[in-house]
Amino acid sequence: MSTPSPRSSAKPSGKAKARVAYVCSECGSDHNKWQGQCADCGAWNTLGEFVVEPAAAVAKGAASRRSSWAGKVDPPRVTALKDVRHTEAARVSTGIGELDRVLGGGLVHGAVVLVGGDPGIGKSTLLLQAVAKMAATLPSLYVTGEESLSQVAGRGARLDLPLDGVDALAETSIEKILEQAADRQPRLIVADSVQTLWTESLAAAPGSVSQVRESAARLVRYAKETGTAVFLVGHVTKEGGIAGPRVLEHMVDAVLYFEGESGSRFRVLRAFKNRFGAVNELGVFAMGDKGLREVPNPSAIFLSGSREPQPGSCVMVTREGTRPLLVEVQALVDASPLSNPRRVAVGMEGNRLAMLLAVLHRHGGVGVGDQDVFVNVVGGIRVQETAADLPVLLAVLSSLRDAPLPAQTIAFGEVGLSGEIRPVPNGEERLKEAATHGFKRAIVPRGNAPKSGRVGDMQVIAVERLADALEHA
Ligand code: TYD
Ligand code: MG
Repeated sequence: MSTPSPRSSAKPSGKAKARVAYVCSECGSDHNKWQGQCADCGAWNTLGEFVVEPAAAVAKGAASRRSSWAGKVDPPRVTALKDVRHTEAARVSTGIGELDRVLGGGLVHGAVVLVGGDPGIGKSTLLLQAVAKMAATLPSLYVTGEESLSQVAGRGARLDLPLDGVDALAETSIEKILEQAADRQPRLIVADSVQTLWTESLAAAPGSVSQVRESAARLVRYAKETGTAVFLVGHVTKEGGIAGPRVLEHMVDAVLYFEGESGSRFRVLRAFKNRFGAVNELGVFAMGDKGLREVPNPSAIFLSGSREPQPGSCVMVTREGTRPLLVEVQALVDASPLSNPRRVAVGMEGNRLAMLLAVLHRHGGVGVGDQDVFVNVVGGIRVQETAADLPVLLAVLSSLRDAPLPAQTIAFGEVGLSGEIRPVPNGEERLKEAATHGFKRAIVPRGNAPKSGRVGDMQVIAVERLADALEHA
């Protein structure tokens, strides 16, 4: 992101004027004039108007009240990196183990965490529960811009949450929020949601890209200056990004996505970015009438429940984050009436599915060119790792042939473009997890198979080529 310089900087004297910048909602870069396409990222129709206060005004004591993302103006000084004193980031537990896990072991003081997800997924519930737990040790301020205070209090009462020590504020003006924060000095602020926040310093309408971005920037600056931890709630747009600028993702320390299937009570919290921990760590919750309950041992909840083998289904062991999870992949392959048959992937990447189908044709001798192919990962979970390749193809084959895979079978493995089956990390752990849950056969890459060919009671079939794997299925 470039730092804007005032247009008037050519003039040596006089009061610098605010200027208008055009900011791309995709990549956050700014431009001096409006144009249809962002010159930096190539996105179309993403530039929005944004008023930038001159840098001089920011540098003057007014810093905290003025707009700018120019940052703090410290005199630059070069230091030998080895001489820089550093400390482990101090963490506090949120009181919710699965949330701590996703954060990388608790909440870091002064960290700004964006929690994104579809409306109704449970973001407000999760954060109210977390605040109620944390308020005992950390004075907290819950700012709501979407619900009234009585709605928030009502929910807290219904969930039997201890609300002592939780201050609440129904407010959307960032100036007023920061004023209250300066007064009460909370150590934790929840802002629900960032889309409702606005600042007086911009003329743009609340909810617009520039308002969201500037309000978030103010909160980030406040968090860094005071060491206050901040949770920002953000709604996800249809395109899957956090509504408004992608640039929010760059400004904050961690981005967590809260996901789940409508109709399923399970919710998965995933770190998409984390400056203080691993990404792709999963936290699993179940939504019930007492709010969100942790599921500390989620390994088998993503199986469809049917123990009879079904055509088009294959169980895999994924290892997103630090735990193995048994997940069912389902496929439906059916003759297509379309000249351009459909490929629909839910819970995995569409391009990867297209690539796998091409490998299946070229190296497995199985063509689905005239078929619609639908693939779904059960339970609303999203599988990003390549270990899903082999199970996806086995499920596709099983559906095409209308024949179930042998009972109690799991599979995992990456499929390469030349039809080879590549090993994946932590094979032994995945196999153990499957054996623990009573699976009897595993079809896995040779590099992941133990020499003995067994793990407990489970037979392990090692495969090197896609054709071998299809034969064993
Ligand atoms: P909410 O936290 O308001 O979602 P978000 O802030 O992400 O928009 O959750 C709303 C949904 O959760 C709503 O459909 C009702 C459901 N819910 C329960 O099932 N049980 C509960 O105890 C609570 C508080 C909510
Ligand atoms: Mg909400």
